[in-house]
Amino acid sequence: MKYIFGNWKMYLDYAESNKLADQLKDLEIPKELCVGVFPSFLAVADVVKLLEGSGIVVGAQDAGYPSKGAYTSLISAQMLKAVGCTHTLLGHSERRYIFGDTNDVVRKKIEASLESGLVPVVCVGETREDLEDNKTEYRIKKQLVRAFDGLDLDGHEVIIAYEPVWAISKGGKGEPCSSEQAVHTHNFIRDEIRAYTNKQVPILYGGSVDESNVLSYVSKKEIDGVLIGSASTKINSFTSIITTICHKN
Ligand code: PGA
Repeated sequence: MKYIFGNWKMYLDYAESNKLADQLKDLEIPKELCVGVFPSFLAVADVVKLLEGSGIVVGAQDAGYPSKGAYTSLISAQMLKAVGCTHTLLGHSERRYIFGDTNDVVRKKIEASLESGLVPVVCVGETREDLEDNKTEYRIKKQLVRAFDGLDLDGHEVIIAYEPVWAISKGGKGEPCSSEQAVHTHNFIRDEIRAYTNKQVPILYGGSVDESNVLSYVSKKEIDGVLIGSASTKINSFTSIITTICHKN
């Protein structure tokens, strides 16, 4: 199984999200692929409806905790589950480094997602500074321990996305991490995650993936799929990524 997840970030407004979902809904998705999209909170419920029966799963870009109550502006994991989301994207570097989500906050969001029956896609990755200081493994180990230590994952599904922060595009062309380097870090993550669960946890790569380089990642057995930002927001590039992977299989 290979995963192709599109993180639409704040690139698409309500109308644009619905339009893209409508364009995607008739794509043939082979059963060896899990295709998912992560629209904004505003669009997520309608995108779920549009994609019903399409085989494309829908997740949210974050999840609030607790589940209900006097928490102005929050949208909880439970509320997302109720409108048909199946996944939540948690600990994305834009949440961590722009909006201050700490490892503790990410952990609470993971717990809330699991309790609500959602599959958390937990993002980890080093900054450029970490990379230059040879702290990639230190950073990721810390993010993983704080996310999963002591958490009962029995009966739950979890996905990890390795996204080097320096490789994430700002909308244009970014600086992707080489697939060899990604494989190296995926192996490290796979070893680390054994401390928390015996299950096979899919590990996706994210950071400047597009139709020109996607095969270099998904053709590696260590890389279970890709999390795509910018290139997932345009119908031509997203469908060409999906068809490229289909033809490879
Ligand atoms: P990008 O974003 O593909 O635009 O680099 C990836 C991500 O942040 O998930």
